[in-house]
Amino acid sequence: MNSTNEGTNIGPYEERVKDFSWDAVSRELGHEDGAPLNIGWYCTDRICKQGLGGKTALIWESTQGEERKYTFDQMRLYSNAYAKLLQELGVKDGERVAIYLDRVPSLYFSLLGILKLGAIAVPMFSAFGEEALQVRLANCDAVACITSPRLARKLRKARPGLPALKRVIVVDVDDESKLKGDEMAYSVEDAPPVDDFPVFPATEETPSLLHYTSGTTGQPKGALHVHGSILSQYITTKWVMDLKPDDVYWCTADPGWVTGISYGVIGPWSLGATQLVLEVGFIPARWYSAIEKHRVSVWYSAPTAIRLLMREGEEIVKQYDLSSLRHLCSVGEPLNPEAVIWSEKVYGLPFHDTWWQTETGAIMITNYPGMEVRPGSMGKPFPGTAAAVLDDRFEPITEPNKPGKLALKPPWASMFREYWGNRTIYESKFKNGWYITGDRARIDEDGYYWFEGRDDDVINTGGHLVAPFEVESALLEHEAVAESAAIGTPDKVNMEVVKAYVALKSGFEPTKDLELSIMNFVRKRLSPLAMPQYIEFMDKLPKTRSGKIMRRVLRAMDRGEPIGDISTLEDE
Ligand code: PRX
Repeated sequence: MNSTNEGTNIGPYEERVKDFSWDAVSRELGHEDGAPLNIGWYCTDRICKQGLGGKTALIWESTQGEERKYTFDQMRLYSNAYAKLLQELGVKDGERVAIYLDRVPSLYFSLLGILKLGAIAVPMFSAFGEEALQVRLANCDAVACITSPRLARKLRKARPGLPALKRVIVVDVDDESKLKGDEMAYSVEDAPPVDDFPVFPATEETPSLLHYTSGTTGQPKGALHVHGSILSQYITTKWVMDLKPDDVYWCTADPGWVTGISYGVIGPWSLGATQLVLEVGFIPARWYSAIEKHRVSVWYSAPTAIRLLMREGEEIVKQYDLSSLRHLCSVGEPLNPEAVIWSEKVYGLPFHDTWWQTETGAIMITNYPGMEVRPGSMGKPFPGTAAAVLDDRFEPITEPNKPGKLALKPPWASMFREYWGNRTIYESKFKNGWYITGDRARIDEDGYYWFEGRDDDVINTGGHLVAPFEVESALLEHEAVAESAAIGTPDKVNMEVVKAYVALKSGFEPTKDLELSIMNFVRKRLSPLAMPQYIEFMDKLPKTRSGKIMRRVLRAMDRGEPIGDISTLEDE
């Protein structure tokens, strides 16, 4: 698939690689060395100062189809109001404030408000159940949480395990009598406007956001990001999404995950772009009609959504005018070549795969507008990024097409600065001067990177990482479960889904009802994503002598690969 880089923001890739400098990005953002650098201010006040206060920042459609628009000036005022509210409630800079909301306007206003105050925002996916929520908010000692009446009910159940949580702010409240205890109703649109808030003078190293992500061992870890990340998010959005002043941009990711923040808040708004947010989840007709109605021109989505759209077929596409679309990108999982070819056929545009992680904070390897797309490839490293594929001794492999560990050379502006309270695991991610991503890849003769799979046990379902340990811990809390293991099993749409192996306590029989009860138990505690789609009962699970469950053996069993004599494993 050939194209031309004429008229793109990035221009010729090789030249950008040669002349890239972070100082130049800083200058573009008007940031001088040592001056404050606050993401909240850059995404609102700075755009207003450029004379774009009246431009639409956010087009929002509710699940019911109500439409609202907010200008950059309104974003500025409403984020100021949230910053002031939190300040008056005693929240200090550096403290953690959780946002547990569906994709409603207050999610965006409060996020920017938390950043303006200098506090650390902790976005929580609204499908999280009480346990998933409690584990994360307890880990970071969140002092406040902004939520909605529906989600406040789940938060109440988690609250006994959250002694540090002093303030619960509930937005979009119809009936205050339904609030409990110290929960406080708040409506930013009814509150007095706050024209001038003394924005916290963050530096590039001031913590900004804590994004929880799933690792190989233990509970999810909070990847801590800093205000300086905006340099990466700004320049990658400009060059990879290719946003121009008149674009209408739509990132389908939820801000409960890193994509929905780096490319659903910081990147586009630091560029003064207009973006669309749909409260509703995946509904093909709603998605297509939104593109038509709002004249979406740049669309950032995910392979699972694309595969679901492929399943819906081409007929539905013909019912909508999608002629406004001009550039498409994807992230989160391997983008299969068929999806790229299909999108070229039905939308007339290929999806451009982008690769990155919660820890990297911004796009690291990608296909650029105007550069040849090789369907199935993740593309090439972003200018200013040194990537490599390493052998088992953590030395770069120079031979083309030989798979190894995908690694990046630190530092870069949006690199995570720690796993909250877990220095040891953070440090274990760096070897021989490289950040080890946990993925495997190969590099072809022309420098294109190809994803080969993960190098660990983490499950990627529909672009969301699930920690086997978290699922296993939840399974063990079920009254019937004696031993448990979770693996990813291949799935046509979601790439992988969770499969659990369970040994029952004596007195319990492996029935269909019990299977459903266990599935529901995990769904409610963690989330629908983490719920095992399959449960296989076993008398006992394959373990090493030290008691570690051999997920590798279970994966081989699941795929019908040879596993050898598992009775000997306990002696390994
Ligand atoms: O395994 C890779 C997969 O998703 C992981 C990162 O997940 P997370 O931290 O949740 O961030 C997701 C969105 C940035 C990676 O280590 N992944 C992400 N993008 C791709 C991918 N796998 C293949 N191709 C991609 N383009």
